[in-house]
Amino acid sequence: MRLAGKKIVLGLTGGIACYKVAELTRGLTKAGASVQVVMTPSAMQFITPVTMQALSGNTVYTDQWDARIHNNMPHIDLTRDADAIVIAPCSTDFIAKLAHGACDDLLSTLCMARPHHVPLLIAPAMNVEMWLNPATQRNVAQVKADGIQVLGPAAGEQACGEVGMGRMLEADQLLTEIIASFQAKTLTGKSVLITAGPTFEPIDPVRGLTNLSSGKMGYAIAQAAWEAGADVTLISGPTALDTPYGVRRITIQTAQQMHDSVMAELAARHQSVFVAVAAVADWRVANASPQKIKKTSDNDTPQLQFAQNPDILASVAALTNAPFCVGFAAESENLLEYGTAKRAKKNVPLLVGNIGHHTFGKDENELILFDAKGHTTLPRADKQTLAHRLIQEISRRLSK
Ligand code: CTP
Repeated sequence: MRLAGKKIVLGLTGGIACYKVAELTRGLTKAGASVQVVMTPSAMQFITPVTMQALSGNTVYTDQWDARIHNNMPHIDLTRDADAIVIAPCSTDFIAKLAHGACDDLLSTLCMARPHHVPLLIAPAMNVEMWLNPATQRNVAQVKADGIQVLGPAAGEQACGEVGMGRMLEADQLLTEIIASFQAKTLTGKSVLITAGPTFEPIDPVRGLTNLSSGKMGYAIAQAAWEAGADVTLISGPTALDTPYGVRRITIQTAQQMHDSVMAELAARHQSVFVAVAAVADWRVANASPQKIKKTSDNDTPQLQFAQNPDILASVAALTNAPFCVGFAAESENLLEYGTAKRAKKNVPLLVGNIGHHTFGKDENELILFDAKGHTTLPRADKQTLAHRLIQEISRRLSK
């Protein structure tokens, strides 16, 4: 319920992307927001107020002169208790209106009359040539300069059959952007590098050694860091998860590849924070076979030999100019004792401890933070909530 208690005024203008906004409305209400839909006459060519009323659970307003509002001023009353106004889809014409301060329907008048503390977010949706038109680009630059947040657009196939910039973001992406707009931007201007997921160490071309890490915690931390305004790179072992929105992901397989990828990222650009969430294999198979190992007789077993993998976190922490390093400790017992010892061994300012079999693959967890002063507990919660708390803890320590 990331939007619990928030009121969103959701404005629809004319565009085929109106169909995506039905899904967005469901997402917003599921996240706990109350949604007040306002539609322009053009939007009603694409989707009906009946659909939007049913999905939002609230009366839909379409007319500046709607007498159902007690003082007959919907352009004022609808935004006075709003936490944000979101225009999706936002047409070429509506961007032009916003850029020039036009007020010729309820939605444009309502945007002009919004209290200055209510943020306005727009999700452009239009044909590629309309987007690239210098007039549109001038208007987009103007609305950005006026403090309006522009979400997208994305590039891709368009309803008209042409291909290029102008596709509206998908409903889940818009929902993430809206949730992020309410987060404190404690990591703006900072780069955060995160490892996540399991590693996979080949035995032969069809077999390998891995572990039960799902990647969920690392991916949630990557999303939370992006929401806090950071530029986020996620180096991930094989997982079934989608790349978090706004995050750059590099997929690797082995611990050695993860190590090399982390070092390459650190060499390529300054990173303020390194969070090692990955469950990295301590050993690789030294005598991995280039061909599939065949079973030659009934009691035959392959003789695997192991070599130790590099310790990525310890290597990063040992660098001169190391980023602020955060380690994880997945233990099966004695968490307080092992966590304290592991923080000292890895020489990191912050170590996050958890019980491995209580977290791997699960949606909830409980974390213990170890630092120079001792330890504190982040109580049991879903991994998204814990990720946000952890990012707050990291931001607080960075700003000291
Ligand atoms: N880690 C790492 N590279 C490795 C092993 C671990 O970067 N080769 C990181 C993990 O991402 C985590 C921390 O080190 O942040 C601790 O990982 P963990 O597996 O709990 O500890 P180990 O150092 O492997 O110690 P042990 O397995 O003996 O408990």
